[in-house]
Amino acid sequence: MDTTIVSDILERNGNEKDGLIATLGDIQAEFGYLPEDALRMVSEKTGKALIDLYGIASFYTAFSLKPQGKHLIQVCLGTACHVRGGHRVLDEVRRRLNVEVGDTTDDQQFTLKTVNCLGACALGPIVVVDNEYHGNTRIQKVNSILNKYREISEEV
Ligand code: FES
Repeated sequence: MDTTIVSDILERNGNEKDGLIATLGDIQAEFGYLPEDALRMVSEKTGKALIDLYGIASFYTAFSLKPQGKHLIQVCLGTACHVRGGHRVLDEVRRRLNVEVGDTTDDQQFTLKTVNCLGACALGPIVVVDNEYHGNTRIQKVNSILNKYREISEEV
């Protein structure tokens, strides 16, 4: 981890407790997650206890304590999506990627998460990949959805 990046972020946000969320948000944006060493630096500079920083990081879903994959997959398990087969879709994603909810694939391509309603229940079951909605997702569609993002990764 490049500590100068964290130092710059801390300086930009004033090394104060008031700027904590902004500081953590900038670190998350820079590294894709909140590395432990970065949290220790934030704790030292701001005087905020490390355990409190972990509490903040755990409370806000925007923060992650583990490295994230290149693509974020969110499978909706809200009631409407659930009754339309959201759990089966989730099982298919897990099976095809060999990854559990909250984890990232070994090749660092995909992180899998679940959400409880995305506000588009009529389109359920919904899978969102990198903020792109895939409505009426059936297990037969899962592989083609995943392949689309695999191809995007290969093109970059
Ligand atoms: S329950 Fe899935 S979008 Fe509402």
